[in-house]
Amino acid sequence: MSGVPRVLIAPSLLSADFAHFAQAVREAREAGAELLHFDVMDGVFVPNITFGAQMVQALRHHSDAIFDVHLMIVQPERYIEQFAQAGADIITVHAEACVHLQRTLAQIRESGARAGVALNPATPLSAIEYVIPDIDLLLVMTVNPGFGGQQFITEMLRKIARARAMLDEAGSEAWLEVDGGINGTTTPLVVRAGARVLVAGSSVFGHPEGVRAGVEELRQAVWEAGEKV
Ligand code: DX5
Ligand code: ZN
Repeated sequence: MSGVPRVLIAPSLLSADFAHFAQAVREAREAGAELLHFDVMDGVFVPNITFGAQMVQALRHHSDAIFDVHLMIVQPERYIEQFAQAGADIITVHAEACVHLQRTLAQIRESGARAGVALNPATPLSAIEYVIPDIDLLLVMTVNPGFGGQQFITEMLRKIARARAMLDEAGSEAWLEVDGGINGTTTPLVVRAGARVLVAGSSVFGHPEGVRAGVEELRQAVWEAGEKV
């Protein structure tokens, strides 16, 4: 993706009130979040079940934000077209869920969406070494996927820094995204390590003073890390 020097915020709807998604989407955008993160779970790849492409489509009419769809499902290639049609701007698949990862990434781009690949905490970066030209986004999971509100895995800071170096060395403009346990404390750490898109669920939608305060706290933390917000 073309060079975006700033750090972008992607509130995760997983921590929003499931009875009021449209409102959550509006509030996040009004608070200045550039992306909206959709956690799609199938109860197989991860223990939890959430929502599918219909949800993306329904909310597409309520927001001009970048829709960032994180597929935590097995055989994601079966659903890429549906999510692209529904209005996903970025579709991210897990490397662990794809037998033919390069083909699946190409399929995402063919669908008109930008192609993302996610890695579970235990998955080494070498899993994406040979598909860097095929990705627009690399998602380094900083918790094991499946639930919101988990604790950031500190060891992932090393992985983020290595991912940053790997992308830079390859001359890739892919966005480096982190997801899980991102809050005012962990944000400066991940940003200094090289992350440029911050997914945040509970620290935004669960903020005691509301969504705006949640996004502002993250922006403040980015600024403290010395990066543009
Ligand atoms: C976890 C999801 C995350 C989740 C993050 O499986 O991928 O996007 O919403 O939640 P927090 O920010 O609460 O860790
Ligand atoms: Zn996610």
